[in-house]
Amino acid sequence: MHRDYRGRGIGKALLKKGIEVAKRLKAKNIWIEYLDGNNVAKHLYESLGFVEWCRLPKYRKHYGRYGDSVKMLYVGDGKK
Ligand SMILES: CC(C)(COP(=O)(O)OP(=O)(O)OC[C@H]1O[C@@H](n2cnc3c(N)ncnc32)[C@H](O)[C@@H]1OP(=O)(O)O)[C@@H](O)C(=O)NCCC(=O)NCCS
Repeated sequence: MHRDYRGRGIGKALLKKGIEVAKRLKAKNIWIEYLDGNNVAKHLYESLGFVEWCRLPKYRKHYGRYGDSVKMLYVGDGKK
């Protein structure tokens, strides 16, 4: 998301729509990934019903340090 447009509900609306489409297409699983430490992404994904599923340790370098890739699996309709 372009930084000028973050924090306005667009990411959440897009992800909700993506989940709806995947359900309509009868996807067996929906998963998503973020880099450990990205607490905004983690919060967003958990709020829509994703839970941590597995990690790839020190998967990617970001701002000079290697961080875990955290895979999350969609398990249900989340809090919001
Ligand atoms: C992560 C990202 C996609 C979220 O999209 P967004 O449009 O900014 O997020 P939204 O406005 O829909 O907010 C989603 C939730 O995060 C919270 N949030 C958003 N920005 C936040 C911030 N800077 N600090 C704390 N919480 C924040 C919102 O309050 C909301 O939570 P709520 O529903 O409980 O109120 C977007 O911020 C982004 O592109 N960030 C940089 C790149 C990135 O991290 N991508 C994801 C990689 S996995």
